[in-house]
Amino acid sequence: MTEIPEHLLQRSRERRAALGGGDASTSAPAETTASAATPAVPAAAAPSGPAPRAAAPEAATPPPPKPDSFVVSKYRSRKKIPGWAMAGLALLPIWMFMYVRSVTAQAEEASGPLAIGAEQYSTCAGCHGGNGQGGVGYQFSEGEVLKTFPNIEDQLRYVMYGTGAYNIAGVSNYGNPDREGGPHLAGERGVMPGFSGAITDYELLGAVCYERYTLGGADSEGDYAEEFEKWCSEESEIFLELEGGAALASIHESHEGIIEIGDGPADGSPAMMEG
Ligand code: HEC
Repeated sequence: MTEIPEHLLQRSRERRAALGGGDASTSAPAETTASAATPAVPAAAAPSGPAPRAAAPEAATPPPPKPDSFVVSKYRSRKKIPGWAMAGLALLPIWMFMYVRSVTAQAEEASGPLAIGAEQYSTCAGCHGGNGQGGVGYQFSEGEVLKTFPNIEDQLRYVMYGTGAYNIAGVSNYGNPDREGGPHLAGERGVMPGFSGAITDYELLGAVCYERYTLGGADSEGDYAEEFEKWCSEESEIFLELEGGAALASIHESHEGIIEIGDGPADGSPAMMEG
């Protein structure tokens, strides 16, 4: 009769204990004599369900963690936002809201001939250049527009009626007949559309003021101070009257010293002679 060595018996007892949850009495001594066995899975760790799987020895040692990818390691080592800054960041949306409101509120409040003109000039910029440098239409900047129109009334009339009406009326010289280098004649350069009716009279005045003062460089405190005050300053009575519905064509009736614009093309006027 062969004797089963004690350490084999011991191992089988342990297996049974691990599998069945077994009786504690047989597995208990195992713990005291565990020296010979491979590191035993503790009975308590074994699942007690009806079809338990023995915990594989490999499962006991988890695989080494995968090294972080480049992106993840960058993310982990990023600078964190300090707590005191979070307070400011939390207010950011409110600040943005207030900022946008203040900007749009300002745009709504834009008033006066030059501010209105700056908005209206977008209608003209395509042909005359964003800075009045010229394009399909003439240049306004560097005083060019002032050479053609020493008097603002002639410019207003021309912008109101445009090349077509001047051609029909047989009026070719819409500006200063003594313009240096020769006068600009209707149709010479192309077709300037008439804007009367397309925009309001006060918007039209605004665009013309913008072309003369902002783009053309007329000196509102020097040579053109009188014209500026009368037509293009924020206190301009003419501008206010136009806003109230008065017509450019007949504005000369209620103001002294104004060249009649009238309801159609007319010859342009020369610069006033200095006394
Ligand atoms: C479709 C292109 C076009 C648009 C838009 C346009 N213009 Fe003109 N403009 C012209 C052309 C072309 C001429 C020259 C016409 C001619 O030879 O009869 C001209 C001429 C002028 C002149 C005469 C300049 C000079 O020195 O002889 C003035 C002033 C003027 N335009 C103002 C305006 C204003 C103000 C607006 C916007 C409200 C405007 N234009 C929009 C094409 C345009």
